Amino acid sequence: MRLADKSALITGAARGIGAAFAKAYAEEGATVAIGDLDIGRAEETAARIGPRAYPVRIDVADQASIDAAIAAVVARAGGLDILVNNAGVFDMAPVADITRASFDKLIAVNVAGTLFTLQAAARQMVAQGRGGKIINLSSQAGRRGEALAVVYCATKAAVISLTQSAGLDLIRHGINVNGIAPGVIESEMWDVVDALFAKYENRPIGEKKRLVGEAVPYGRMGVPEDLAGMAVFLASRDSDYIVAQTYNVDGGNWMS
Ligand SMILES: NC(=O)c1ccc[n+]([C@@H]2O[C@H](COP(=O)([O-])OP(=O)(O)OC[C@H]3O[C@@H](n4cnc5c(N)ncnc54)[C@H](O)[C@@H]3O)[C@@H](O)[C@H]2O)c1
Repeated sequence: MRLADKSALITGAARGIGAAFAKAYAEEGATVAIGDLDIGRAEETAARIGPRAYPVRIDVADQASIDAAIAAVVARAGGLDILVNNAGVFDMAPVADITRASFDKLIAVNVAGTLFTLQAAARQMVAQGRGGKIINLSSQAGRRGEALAVVYCATKAAVISLTQSAGLDLIRHGINVNGIAPGVIESEMWDVVDALFAKYENRPIGEKKRLVGEAVPYGRMGVPEDLAGMAVFLASRDSDYIVAQTYNVDGGNWMS
């Protein structure tokens, strides 16, 4: 029960990595808001996790929605101790085919969404005066270039940078800001990634996913639960002295 009596908000938690974090947080004693655009699926996920989880609608690309979600969490749980900035979107194209619309969407969700949800949570945490934990989802894509993922890589590099600077600003309030950089993780997002690789690299559906899984030193793609230990650690008192870091959890992918 490392998170007993803590109030957490996880964005993009209706499915995938965020849903696995929500389950782990509830098992550690936290009350967890399943924040998502897809409120129907957030309701289902909360019901599956049990009484410590509840759904909250949030569009991290919309300031009014962020503010309303934070207010809903405070009203329901009496405060906010942990934010996981997990909501993210992916797109892919060679440089010549990148569109303004795709660029704007990835920046709005992955970068502005991360920053302004972090800001709203930090304001609440500072007002409460008891510190807090903020965890941002970056990616191995934020640490390197990928020929077909120029914009996604840039957004995830920005998340590492925001984590570094916001971490330095907010630690004086006892708020730890840290990040996780996953490798390749089985989720509905990876089904989108696989379909885009199939299009741009002229491959059968499923082939890219199989190949990237085989290339992971651990021997397989990750599953969302593989990241949950790090997410609990970074939300717990065990990480109090860790500031502005982003940890790879990737089965050795980045090192290889
Ligand atoms: N799956 C991977 O291999 C992988 C690798 C590295 C990093 N990541 C990152 O981890 C995070 C979660 O990834 P996933 O694979 O679980 O993705 P996913 O696509 O399966 O789930 C993302 C969730 O975010 C929600 N969402 C999308 N836009 C939103 C918005 N504007 N506001 C609120 N919610 C929104 C979606 O409804 C969905 O429930 C993302 O930030 C992603 O970039 C994933």
